[in-house]
Amino acid sequence: MAVERTFSIIKPDATRRNITGKIIDRIESAGLKVVASKRIHMSRAQAEEFYGVHRERGFFGELVDFMISGPVIVQVLEGDNAVAKYRDVMGATNPANAAPGTIRKDFAESIEANSVHGSDGPDTAATEIKFFFKDNEIVG
Ligand code: PPS
Repeated sequence: MAVERTFSIIKPDATRRNITGKIIDRIESAGLKVVASKRIHMSRAQAEEFYGVHRERGFFGELVDFMISGPVIVQVLEGDNAVAKYRDVMGATNPANAAPGTIRKDFAESIEANSVHGSDGPDTAATEIKFFFKDNEIVG
């Protein structure tokens, strides 16, 4: 299996409720290693650029407002098939549709306040990692 990296955000609803440790436990228990991590408060410009692909969608403004409503933890995760594995660990975007035992089923509040973001493919992961981390901030 290919060792891969993916990008994760623990979202403001999770930092607000002080459940970041519980989420990181799910990540590590799945065999993913946190090789970079920092707690930041995104600027509006940063959030608009990061989510630029969704600019035309009706929820874009709400999504940006939510993502800058409090601190987040951005992370690089490493492991076998990390992109797909983390998407499995997160569960469906809408917690109402997420499988039992996933982060979103167990912790998310709504489709907006859904606790975590994970890259949707290896190319996106590389772009998203570069957006927030310098090479020397990632330690495997
Ligand atoms: S995905 O992962 O691309 O299949 O999901 P998608 O449905 O395209 O959603 C992309 C991101 O937008 C967020 N989202 C919303 N935010 C606010 N309100 C509504 N209604 C809404 N619907 C989707 C969703 O949480 C995804 O965020 P990220 O951070 O990419 O997971």
